[in-house]
Amino acid sequence: MMKTQPQSEAINVFLEEKRTFEPPASFRRSANIQDPDIYERAARDVESFWARFASELVWMKKWDRVLEWDPPDAKWFVNGKLNVSFNCVDRWAKSEFRNKAAIIWEGEPGEERTLTYEVLYREVNQFASALKKLGVAKGDRVAIYMPMIPETAIAMLACARIGAVHSVVFGGFSAESLADRINDAQAKVLITADGGYRRGSVVPLKRDADAALTKTPSIEHVVVVDRCHSNPPMKDGRDRWWHEVMGDAQKFCAPEPMDSEDLLYILYTSGTTGKPKGVIHTTGGYLTGVYATAKWVFDLKPSDVYWCSADIGWVTGHSYVVYGPLANAATVFMYEGAPNWPENDRFWKLIEKYRVTIFYTAPTAIRAFMKWGTEWPERCDLSSLRLLGTVGEPINPEAWMWYHKYIGREKCPVVDTWWQTETGMILITPLPGIVTTKPGSATKPFPGVEACIMNGQGEKVEVGGGYLAITKPWPAMLRGIYGDRKRYIQEYWSRWDKIYFPADGAKRDEEGYFWLLGRVDDVLNVAGHRIGTMEVESALVDHMSVAEAAVVGKPHEIKGEAIVCFVTLKEGIQRSADLAKQLKEHVANKIGKIVRPEEIIFSAELPKTRSGKIMRRLLKDIALGKVLGDTTTLADPDVVKRLKEQYENTEA
Ligand code: WTA
Repeated sequence: MMKTQPQSEAINVFLEEKRTFEPPASFRRSANIQDPDIYERAARDVESFWARFASELVWMKKWDRVLEWDPPDAKWFVNGKLNVSFNCVDRWAKSEFRNKAAIIWEGEPGEERTLTYEVLYREVNQFASALKKLGVAKGDRVAIYMPMIPETAIAMLACARIGAVHSVVFGGFSAESLADRINDAQAKVLITADGGYRRGSVVPLKRDADAALTKTPSIEHVVVVDRCHSNPPMKDGRDRWWHEVMGDAQKFCAPEPMDSEDLLYILYTSGTTGKPKGVIHTTGGYLTGVYATAKWVFDLKPSDVYWCSADIGWVTGHSYVVYGPLANAATVFMYEGAPNWPENDRFWKLIEKYRVTIFYTAPTAIRAFMKWGTEWPERCDLSSLRLLGTVGEPINPEAWMWYHKYIGREKCPVVDTWWQTETGMILITPLPGIVTTKPGSATKPFPGVEACIMNGQGEKVEVGGGYLAITKPWPAMLRGIYGDRKRYIQEYWSRWDKIYFPADGAKRDEEGYFWLLGRVDDVLNVAGHRIGTMEVESALVDHMSVAEAAVVGKPHEIKGEAIVCFVTLKEGIQRSADLAKQLKEHVANKIGKIVRPEEIIFSAELPKTRSGKIMRRLLKDIALGKVLGDTTTLADPDVVKRLKEQYENTEA
């Protein structure tokens, strides 16, 4: 079915955007990639282009063929063998980078830790041995539910070392979301912490994990980092302290030779229908893709202090806090807590203190910084910065300009990077030493990546808007959805023949620049997090007073999109402000605080097609206060009219 183009009003704003920014000469001269011909060279021989990056990694056995493409299945670096933790850790621990900082960490209360590559090597080896001792073997799944502390990266790398498949679940998710993900992956071990610090208080992760663990029969052991000394209950025989299992473990654990196509991790993300899907990523192609993009997009140099503020629980944390940067021997800065704790300038103080040179964050964060005001960054010395990046949602040109001016002090290139959990690596982005940027545009596909815009008829659009399409396989592409082959084909490969469908709207301008416009499916993007409308609806219907619910997104100044819920109550239940509050709370408890709805609209009925499908598009029009679109396919057109009148008469 054709969907209306999302946020079509945004096109006009973008059309007026004529500002351009060339890479500063000094940046260009020392950039890791300076030759504009690279685009053409890569396109001429894509396989050699990727193979060159792959050969900069350490392989235990070289691949026979670069690519086997049997759509929708790709195999990269066929029959090659390597180990991801070896490439991210051992390699540097055994080199002149041995005493270089791998991770510099600051806790929210202010503690500092620095792990050199040598120290990281010791920790990863020891924890890998500990996991083995707990019975974890190659191919087993390990769930990780952690705050932003170095142990989170250590746990992931330790899994990679022994060939266990990690499934990191964002620490802000609820017990129920954690349980669902553990059960879908049938994880054997859960790694968590007693808690983590956020805005001055302890987020009780172990307590939530315990609630999840009542419903997860596959879990045999739980390893708990004593982060906050909050003394959580520990279940005998099941729960072990991190420091205790480490104390008992062997110092060295040989890295498992992994096939290039062996699973590295599962990461759950929202799709249009049903439960979250476990996106799977494999070993050789993924590492090649994140290594290459981290090197060229972030222009990593040995002296850089690189900070990606994303939580490790999201794909950005996987690819650009852990794997991409460490494969480049980078020094990664990591911070545990909130940007506004104790005050609104915490991020800027951290940049000043650690002399951060590269900063990568999300538009939603930038909009919050804008709202807090320029006095906060102005008070800090941000002169160490040389490159800025954004990811997660379309960036408004004004937010881009603010970031460029007040954080980059007009001297740092801004890389707006488009990609997804599924793509594993950045696909559309400027190369900071080559590409002239335009505020609000992610510019061009990375060399070797091929993208275009398609219209509703499946024809290529040279200039104009439509659906974004990725027309060639790329090394870090998802290899499937865990345990759901049908859904993999259905969601990504059924719209066009042999072409990947990301479900994003985009437009291409006369110069071939891409402007991303947001999702075209029923997935919301709230503060840079993908949330399926379906999940929120299920959580609402789970409440005893709710009969039916439909959820839409509405533009929000800071979050990008806010959640608006239309709710039909069961017979005999009274509407009240208190019930609305309860429902918001219920959703936050079921899925996670980031998903708390902005508005609850009670409605006697919901607009449906004759086949019974809820017409979210019309609800969205109502939430946006727009003139109603076509209602002729509705079973009862009056429903929408009544709802619209009611909505206009209620206070949000
Ligand atoms: C959106 C995050 C515009 C997009 C890495 C995509 C963006 C979804 C950008 C993926 C960007 C991400 N400009 N939109 N630079 N980056 N998106 O899986 O809608 O959490 O499909 O991966 O975020 O979100 P995900």
